[in-house]
Amino acid sequence: MKITVAGTGYVGLVTGVSLAEIGHQVICFDINEQKVKELQAGRSPIYEPGLEEMLCSNMNGKRIYFTSNAEYAYKEADLIIIAVGTPENDDGSANLSYVRLVAEDIAKYSRQEEIIIVTKSTVPVGTNEKVKKWVDEESSKRFKKIHIVSNPEFLREGSALYDTFNGDRIVVGTDCKEVAMKMDELYGPLNIPIIHTDIESSEMIKYASNAFLATKISFINEIANICEKVGANIDDVSRGIGMDQRIGPKFLQAGVGYGGSCFPKDTKALVQLAGDVHHRFHLLEAVINVNNNQPLLLIQKAREIVGTFEHKKVAILGIAFKPNTDDIRESASLVLIKELINEGAIITVYDPIATYLAKQVLGENVLYSSSIDDAINDADITFIATEWKQVVNYPLNKYVSLMKDPIIIDGRNCYPLASIRKENITYVSVGRETLYREDKIVIK
Ligand SMILES: NC(=O)c1ccc[n+]([C@@H]2O[C@H](COP(=O)([O-])OP(=O)(O)OC[C@H]3O[C@@H](n4cnc5c(N)ncnc54)[C@H](O)[C@@H]3O)[C@@H](O)[C@H]2O)c1
Repeated sequence: MKITVAGTGYVGLVTGVSLAEIGHQVICFDINEQKVKELQAGRSPIYEPGLEEMLCSNMNGKRIYFTSNAEYAYKEADLIIIAVGTPENDDGSANLSYVRLVAEDIAKYSRQEEIIIVTKSTVPVGTNEKVKKWVDEESSKRFKKIHIVSNPEFLREGSALYDTFNGDRIVVGTDCKEVAMKMDELYGPLNIPIIHTDIESSEMIKYASNAFLATKISFINEIANICEKVGANIDDVSRGIGMDQRIGPKFLQAGVGYGGSCFPKDTKALVQLAGDVHHRFHLLEAVINVNNNQPLLLIQKAREIVGTFEHKKVAILGIAFKPNTDDIRESASLVLIKELINEGAIITVYDPIATYLAKQVLGENVLYSSSIDDAINDADITFIATEWKQVVNYPLNKYVSLMKDPIIIDGRNCYPLASIRKENITYVSVGRETLYREDKIVIK
């Protein structure tokens, strides 16, 4: 099969490289010429552990090619995987304009009579049928057969390659048995269970999965917020809940809230999708509200300690929405930064990987540090927004020696309270007792 992947972002690039790694011949197409040039030179435009090495080895093996020429990409492709972005519209619904562009290009440039179009982008129920209609109409019904397959992606940024080769399941939604068998062939070497469904169910599985995980996060954050008020400890509560096999321990880490390019937009899109069929998704609306409020609660707790942020020097550790990725889309850190700037803080940010992207978004509104030492030096207050290992392993006594006043607002519960108790630090975390500097017996 001649495979073309449309879009070389986190999903498209990882998909293309992984398919090449298991022996397929792949062309990756992107409209971003700069990205394609970098890829052609063997450089990954995104940070993802192991990706650049695998990319280069498959380029050397001549199993993967990159192009910004749509005709070259689609002319002879038998199977096209759509992996372009589906950002949110102003009303929260999914913006399908990039998907539509791919459909138009396929219609224009494919010279095949029969084609399989696989949608990996996260799209609302009914979109695959729309893709078929767009291709059919734009090509003046030239194709003898257009097969559509919904094949949602479940990789996590930061461990995208690992997830692709060790996924829990692959979901394939199609109404054609032969095409289902071709998808089995495509993914066979991965040895991952494949679930076959109809197209609509497959589309829904993706949104339901993300909505459920977001719900778990907002749920534990609300429990954490209550823990603070009743004197319980969320670490113990999460462990106690998570050991119940019906619940499981994952996604029970309380914190400043979820971010990234998927959960925020996918939860909103599902609320919108439900609204379109006259169903108000009360539960998911609450999940979104809790998440929006979580960074503000952290700021409120900090405000109670420092009074005002006006002219205060604030260090922010972490801009990426989670560790091991450079993705800063919808990161909780950006919410904190925006709010603190509004309140007059002077902000210095540190992130081991994502600073170059932060500069594009935050410009000169903040200062940038290349080390934690520099970021917290002389700071009045430090916020932790991403649990990078550099932050988790940072010696606590350095907050004491470098900051003007060692006040840490930890949005990721990076440090055990027992360790903090050994230092003269004021420490606010999520769902745990706040430790005040004055209360401490300093053990040096
Ligand atoms: N990032 C994730 O962790 C993740 C996980 C699962 C699913 N998804 C979904 O996968 C899709 C892609 O997400 P992403 O994070 O990889 O996006 P991304 O923004 O990183 O990449 C999208 C790429 O598509 C390219 N593009 C746009 N229009 C194009 C066109 N007409 N033809 C070819 N290329 C085009 C862009 O230039 C960009 O390089 C989204 O629907 C997202 O919701 C993402």
